[in-house]
Formats: sequence, C-alpha cells, structure tokens
Amino acid sequence: MRVLGIETSCDETGIALYDSEQGLLGHTLYSQVQVHAEYGGVVPELASRDHVRKLLPLVRQVMTETGTSREDIDAIAYTAGPGLIGALIVGASVGRALAYGWGVPALAVHHMEGHLLAPMLEADPPGFPFVALLVSGGHTQLVKVEGIGQYQMLGESLDDAAGEAFDKAAKMLDLDYPGGPEIARLAEKGEPGRFKFPRPMVDRPGLDFSFSGLKTYTLNTVADHAQEDGLPGEQTCADIAHAFQEAVVSTLAIKCRRALEQTGQKTLIIAGGVSANKRLREELETSLAKINARVYYARHEFCTDNGAMIAYAGCQRLLAGQSEPLAVTVRARWDLESLPAVNLP
Ligand code: KG4
Ligand code: ZN
Repeated sequence: MRVLGIETSCDETGIALYDSEQGLLGHTLYSQVQVHAEYGGVVPELASRDHVRKLLPLVRQVMTETGTSREDIDAIAYTAGPGLIGALIVGASVGRALAYGWGVPALAVHHMEGHLLAPMLEADPPGFPFVALLVSGGHTQLVKVEGIGQYQMLGESLDDAAGEAFDKAAKMLDLDYPGGPEIARLAEKGEPGRFKFPRPMVDRPGLDFSFSGLKTYTLNTVADHAQEDGLPGEQTCADIAHAFQEAVVSTLAIKCRRALEQTGQKTLIIAGGVSANKRLREELETSLAKINARVYYARHEFCTDNGAMIAYAGCQRLLAGQSEPLAVTVRARWDLESLPAVNLP
C-alpha cells in the first residue's frame, strides 16, 4: 500500500510517500520560517496562505522525484488536527479532494500520533509497548502506548509546552524564532554551573509538568543582568541559555524515568520538535542506561513537523481498514486518547 502524506498543521508544508512494503520512498519539506521571522512567531493567516501556494507544487515534486503516478497511490493521509485551524483546512481539503478525485481512501491523521510514530521510520524501530514523551511547540505529554491508537495519558503540561518554553526563553534573549535550536546553539557557549535554574515540579509526585515558573525565573535573571540595551552581555546570555536548557532537560528526564518506573516499561520514545535537542537525548541515554532502559528517537528532520510521519501513521490505519468519510473535518484541539485502536494482523 502506497500512501501520500500531507502535513500542514503549523508553519511547515510536509509531503511524503510511504509504501508499506518498501518503506519511505521520498519526502520534502518547505519551512515558512522566513515568512514569520519578522513577527517573532507564527501568524496563522500567513501560514494558511503559504500552504495554499506550496502544497500542490510540493505534491508534484515528490511524485516526480519518486517516479510515482496517481495510479500508484492507494490512499491520501493528511493532518486533521491538532493545530492552526486555517492551516489544517488547507491540507485537509486538498488531501480529501485529491483522494476523491483519484478514487482512493482518505485518512485523517492526528498530528501527535504522527510524531509518536516517527521513530518507527528508523532502521531499528522500538517495539510496543512503550512510554512516549511528546515534546513539541504545543504539547508536552507522557503517554503509555500499548499499540497504535492505544494511548493512556500519564502526565502533561499544566501550562506552557516544552517547545513553547524554549521559544519564549529565546525571545527574552532576543533570539530568532523558532527558539529551541537557537537556545541549544547558544547554550553550547554557556558556562556550566554559573546559574542554577529551578527544576519545576520534580519534588512533587506525579507526571505532570509546568514550565511557567521557569519562564518567570528566566525573565527575572535576564532583567537582573540587563545592560543599557535591555539585554545581558553575550556570555551571560549564553550562561542563561545553558542553565535554562539544563533545567528543561533534567525536568523532562526525571519525569521520563519516573514514568518508566511507574509503568514497569523499559522502552521510551521521544518525539516532537524538542526531541531534536541533543542535550535531551544525551541526558536520557545516560539516565535510562542506569535502569536498563532504552530511549528511541527519529532522525533530526523527522522530530520536527514533516510529511513522512503523517504518511506512515495514515498507512498503518489504512492497513487496519480505516478511512475517512467524504466530509472534511479538522480539529484545532483533539484528544489523543480518543483515537480508535489499530489492530494489525
Ligand atoms: O513538533 P514541532 O516541529 O511543531 C509542533 O508540533 O509544535 O515542534 C516545534 C518546537 C518549537 O517550539 C521549537 O522551538 C522546538 O520544537 N525545537 C527545539 C529544537 N528544535 C525544535 N527545542 C529544543 N531544542 C531543539 N533542538
Ligand atoms: Zn509537530
């Protein structure tokens, strides 16, 4: 089965072709980062309009590059939520219309399920069951995963998502959007130990997260060291970025370890934009090795938004006999636990 995947939930247009026998055949990604850069964050209406411009040319590009004609495509999978409603409508209506025109089934994919399954695209994929840490711009969730569509929420952020916290801290340091990679880059120049930021909620039981206190602490530290231009000096900015990243990383790692211990699992997967963070990967590798557990993640380009994860997730649901009715339905918010289970033979 060959599935065309379309991702347009935020500021990236991702297209991919996944084949259940041959694996990923090809993919492409167009990032709108330049469109939104001057606003310091994603402007929803500009995002929708840019998806309209880019979507069909990118579909053509992937089909040409992979030598695929429309007769070769068995289904079309598109992100139906959660995300920016206008951006979702673009991908969903184009995906649904193409499927109708080509006479193939359509699959409405949950964006976070796409992220969660992205490590399955790698050569050494994890086996079920496992615990998943989903860390993106909009979500921070710990999920017990028994199989595709069998999700139990163990904990989540009570306020900002981890990626959002990175983006806000970056803004405080006058760094570009998206802030995660910028903070990570600057943190490498930071002096370890100059600042020690709080690890939110780690001394409380449970698996929920909260990053708003850390955000305030970062803001206060920046203000305390600000010079005439309103920013601390270059080295102090790097030291703050370092301390901030360490605080987020160790908070996430402590909760992941706790989730594994609580559920008796030995496998963790991390997914979503923040799972691209090198320090998070290192920290989890060392801390999980101590309890004989292992962490899996996708290659860098499949941690952030992409079409491959949507094509893969759609293909699994197609193989299980699922498909969408003709109506185009998108959801800005969508509970991951409400998805139907996939029972693959
Ligand atoms: O999954 P994603 O591409 O989009 C959403 O579904 O939200 O995640 C984007 C988020 C942004 O907040 C971005 O700053 C963060 O992931 N991010 C990172 C890194 N790369 C992306 N955060 C920390 N370190 C990184 N290397
Ligand atoms: Zn995402």
